[in-house]
Amino acid sequence: TDALYDELLDIALEAAHRAGVLLRDGRPADLGVAATKSSPIDVVTEMDLASEKLITGFIGERRPDDGFLGEEGASSAGTSGIRWVIDPIDGTVNYLYGLPSWAVSIAAERDGEVVVGVVAAPMRGETYRAVLGRGAFSNDEPVRHRPTPPALSQALLGTGFGYLAERRAAQAEVVRTLLPQVRDIRRGGSAAIDLCDVACGRLDAYYERGLNPWDLAAGALIAREAGALTGGRPGRSASHELTLAASPALFEQLQPLLEELGAWHD
Ligand code: IPD
Repeated sequence: TDALYDELLDIALEAAHRAGVLLRDGRPADLGVAATKSSPIDVVTEMDLASEKLITGFIGERRPDDGFLGEEGASSAGTSGIRWVIDPIDGTVNYLYGLPSWAVSIAAERDGEVVVGVVAAPMRGETYRAVLGRGAFSNDEPVRHRPTPPALSQALLGTGFGYLAERRAAQAEVVRTLLPQVRDIRRGGSAAIDLCDVACGRLDAYYERGLNPWDLAAGALIAREAGALTGGRPGRSASHELTLAASPALFEQLQPLLEELGAWHD
């Protein structure tokens, strides 16, 4: 198991590094929208497609029997029990506009459980990584969630919004109620980076409804390995319905509050 996880981590780090270099150095000055997905603001650029192709090609050459799930369409079951969950650019809108907060997110699942996670954020010069049971790191430094703030009123939260108008209206209602009760709320534009920011103590907590597996797989493992808790509605794990990551004491306060506010429905 140790040798397998080492191999998966090395592959994920190298694939994320190569994709990060391609995206950072190869971003066309006139980058435009190649296609739209769930709504007119849910965009794909040629660079999302190029990054996913690079990553699946790199991994597929080394581990031909593994499966894939990628944001831009990679989908196969594989036969090895390992499946790679890939977001070739998390924070596509930031990338499109030339804002620095975007990342390449690569996770490896073994029999459905995430065992390796890598989030490369090239414009920050930081790559976050975790292996199940081995802690979380930023570059080569161990990271830890922020010591719990004295009260919710002192907490800095992150969140994100979906691409569908109806969902955004519901998300705005949650923010309207939450904002006066906390220190502040950030909308960074990359769920993977938000989760890593919880892991390294730059946010006290992060929540969002509507994430896809590729947005959260690597970042949630990194947050957990940094000592944070992740989950969804009470008793459930982080998912499309709701993803919450926070230092433990804050998690216990936020989970019932988000439930009460209906942060999980549109
Ligand atoms: C998006 C980002 C954003 C979050 C959206 C995601 P993408 O991922 O993570 O922060 O609010 O829900 O879809 O589309 O840039 O890969």
